[in-house]
Amino acid sequence: MPKNDYLCGWKTINRPEEQDMILEKIERLKAEVAGLTAATAEEAEALRIKYLGKKGALSELMAEFRQVAAEEKKTVGMKLNELKALAQERINQVRQSAESASEVSDGDLDLTRTPYPIPLGTRHPLTVVRNTIVDIFSRLGFTLAEGPEVEDDWHVYSSMNFAPDHPARDMQDTFFVESRPDVILRSHTSSVQSRVMERQQPPIRVICPGRVYRNEAISARAHCFFHQVEGLYVDKDVSFADLKQVLLLFAREMFGPDTKIRLRPSYFPFTEPSAEMDISCHLCGGRGCSFCKHTGWVEILGCGMVDPAVLDANGIDSTIYKGYAFGMGIERITNLKYQVKDLRMFSENDARFLAEFQAAN
Ligand code: PHE
Repeated sequence: MPKNDYLCGWKTINRPEEQDMILEKIERLKAEVAGLTAATAEEAEALRIKYLGKKGALSELMAEFRQVAAEEKKTVGMKLNELKALAQERINQVRQSAESASEVSDGDLDLTRTPYPIPLGTRHPLTVVRNTIVDIFSRLGFTLAEGPEVEDDWHVYSSMNFAPDHPARDMQDTFFVESRPDVILRSHTSSVQSRVMERQQPPIRVICPGRVYRNEAISARAHCFFHQVEGLYVDKDVSFADLKQVLLLFAREMFGPDTKIRLRPSYFPFTEPSAEMDISCHLCGGRGCSFCKHTGWVEILGCGMVDPAVLDANGIDSTIYKGYAFGMGIERITNLKYQVKDLRMFSENDARFLAEFQAAN
């Protein structure tokens, strides 16, 4: 259709091109409005004036709208209303977020206020008991020694006088690395004793706490890892009586001043003679109860005089020096103190279980 068919006096705006232009403007403004932002309430107000104010963009469009041809007014009017609603909504949003942001920076934010109460964490029961053990031996002059959990055969077994065919090396007990048969996860912390001796001449007085691994089926009474504390004392003139005295003192500090100990002969490759130590049952005072299986005694650790072969293998002259060693499971001591029935509780980290040790912390 030729252009001038629509010429009707001065109202040239009625041409379709002009209507297209107003629709285009509306679309452009819609996109503009949707992307509006303001950092402060004042900026939001300036936007309101710019778009919705008396001389704002929408008022200008209204003026143009009046000149749109009658038959097009409905379509264009609807678009205009949409734009107006959008602009009002967006500017309100922008104002609200600017206001709430400025509320924070207005100094209402009090960083010293106590937050919502967060339950206080507690030390893990094994850590509590480990620290108690370390503390008792520290007072007796023992220092702390730690070593790697991923070990080699020498430090875990050979230097500790284990025969090459000792069953502890068997796949049943030890985690081996298939591609590197010499690499193992330590099955006891005696490896740390070996590492201390190869680096240091006597007097040696160390305790070695740490995690150890054994290939056992996981149940209430066994796990594939647990924690130990081992002790080593090497000097001239060290006797079994020294060992006994130190362990008695430890037992009394740990389980109470009335605790009695008894030593039963035992066997370990690295000690000779070796013994298993029991304490009088701290629940029934030695009278006999279900906990001590009515014997009045509960086993707590292994110990003995360091086998001279171990001293020699680790570079210490066994004709000059003697030593004693002992080793205990931290889980076992913890069980004796707190009667935890299921060993798995220690590694599940159930907050309800851990919270029961609040008082011990
Ligand atoms: N290493 C022994 C074990 O893991 C414990 C022990 C240490 C026994 C020192 C005697 C002396 O079973």
